[in-house]
Amino acid sequence: MSQDDTTKRILVTGGAGFIGSHTAVALTEAGYTPVIVDDLRNSRPDVLAGIERILGKSVEFHAVDCSDEAAMKVVFDRPVLGAIHFAADKAVGESVTSPEKYFSNNIGATSKLTHMLRMAGVQHLVFSSSCTVYGEAVALPVGESAPIQPAASPYGFTKQACETLLGYSHAAAEGQLGIALLRYFNPIGAHPSAEIGELPIGTPANLVPFLTQSVAGLRPELTVFGSDYPTADGTCVRDYLHVCDLAEAHVAALQWLEQNNGAMEAFNLGTGTGSSVKEVISAFEAATGRPVPHRFGARRSGDVTAIYADASKAANLLGWKTKRSLEQSLGDAWRWQEKLAP
Ligand code: UD1
Repeated sequence: MSQDDTTKRILVTGGAGFIGSHTAVALTEAGYTPVIVDDLRNSRPDVLAGIERILGKSVEFHAVDCSDEAAMKVVFDRPVLGAIHFAADKAVGESVTSPEKYFSNNIGATSKLTHMLRMAGVQHLVFSSSCTVYGEAVALPVGESAPIQPAASPYGFTKQACETLLGYSHAAAEGQLGIALLRYFNPIGAHPSAEIGELPIGTPANLVPFLTQSVAGLRPELTVFGSDYPTADGTCVRDYLHVCDLAEAHVAALQWLEQNNGAMEAFNLGTGTGSSVKEVISAFEAATGRPVPHRFGARRSGDVTAIYADASKAANLLGWKTKRSLEQSLGDAWRWQEKLAP
């Protein structure tokens, strides 16, 4: 192992997940050495093979729980420069029925992991947060200084609580731990190679995997949740960004932390453009030539009407902007779906 590999080891918890796997690829391409920790409770081992096929080399992987201090010793036996913490549960509906699981897996695990990072002298932490912290936004687009609203679900609360916890950890670390809180809008798509992508286990809760599974015939049709919202076409508006753009934002955040030792900032990560569910369906059809079987149904409880990012802070401080279009994102999501279930 070269000196460079040793100094640039980056712990990636949840690195076999959707965003984590794409970020492991982007990190490697940027000269970092990802150390993937994922106990595979919500992902599959063949994701690792997909990452390695893209990179043409093997990656360090440990199938352990990132909150298990004894098991994590294997990671910290060599220097770790930074950590990107993705490992978490993210199903809004499930969090309503199993709040204890969310408090334990999202807040408890983040607390334990952050303690380990501090004990190991890790200098940089990038945390997976969410635009859900803004709730039903007061004004659009949403900037980072927008008020944090009372959480609409236990899942949303865990993201807020982790951000608060990390604020305290940052203060306690007295400049020894820099933290970037990345508030994602709606990540979609897949790697253009179709080697890795989103692998929802069971019925997908999110729009794009449900849509692609409907087109593939695995589901009878997509139900559009609500067509009577006060938006231009009556359907909800979100800011959908390509997962490869999002992965590159993690690299940019890490580089920013390296240049701003001990800093802490929150960044919105989105395209800056809102798209309605109807627009997503049309963009998919334009990108792939495939009709989307769908019907209009009732609103889904907990959905906000419209939210999209003011991502100018990420542009100004991180030098990051999305590069891929909605059509490209949906085309890549479809190629991945076709590979999964031709
Ligand atoms: C929410 C959170 C996001 C979180 C994500 C995790 C907000 C604003 N966003 O995303 O932070 O990371 O959950 O899962 O709280 N839709 C349909 N039919 C479907 C599925 C979805 O019409 O079968 C619609 C939804 O009503 C929504 C849009 O598609 O308008 C996107 O939904 P989804 O992909 O589930 O993401 P969010 O709920 O926006």
